Amino acid sequence: MKTYLLPAFILFSISPTSCQEKPSVKETGARAAPERRVGGSCECCEAWRDGLPEQLSWQTTISPEGEPGEPLEVSGTIYRKDGKTPAAGVILYVYHTDREGRYSRGAGATECARRHGLLRSWMKTGADGRYRFRTIRPASYPQSTIEQHIHAIIKEAGMGEYWIDDFVFDDDPFLTAALRNRLAERGGSGILRPLKNQQGVWLAERDIVLGKNVPGY
Ligand SMILES: [Fe+2]
Repeated sequence: MKTYLLPAFILFSISPTSCQEKPSVKETGARAAPERRVGGSCECCEAWRDGLPEQLSWQTTISPEGEPGEPLEVSGTIYRKDGKTPAAGVILYVYHTDREGRYSRGAGATECARRHGLLRSWMKTGADGRYRFRTIRPASYPQSTIEQHIHAIIKEAGMGEYWIDDFVFDDDPFLTAALRNRLAERGGSGILRPLKNQQGVWLAERDIVLGKNVPGY
């Protein structure tokens, strides 16, 4: 996953605890086949498992009621590698900073999950491959020129989790031409073109193609 150096005060806001695991052999009745690893290194990506709800929906609301910030709604379709067939049963895990640019109030059981802050959630696609999340628009890290971004991790059955390009914002002045040229476009372009509706909600769409530009996929 693309990572950034976090200011020390963000890291210091992290607090400790333990971790959740896959269903046991006893629960599944059989030893699970090893997952195929794709996408290279993925720092702290395993945090997607931490706090994973038993039931997942195709849509989620990330920010709690009253969370400061401009409301944002992102939706799209996740396709198989062919770019045409909707992909069912895919987990999309996302997390992002708050309006101050901090991964604040992390409450996960593991340090990695806590580093993802409070604003994190999951979706699981149905037969139509659709997903949607409602949240607030993240801010750049404090005193930085890092573009606003939402991290995204994909988990498919039988395969290890892998990161795809961050969701970023076309209208963000920090998303420079040089930066755009460096984007890997893993899973396809992550550049959102948000439009604000009459209710003041930023609306944006992004379709995702599984494995696109992901090494070893
Ligand atoms: Fe980040």
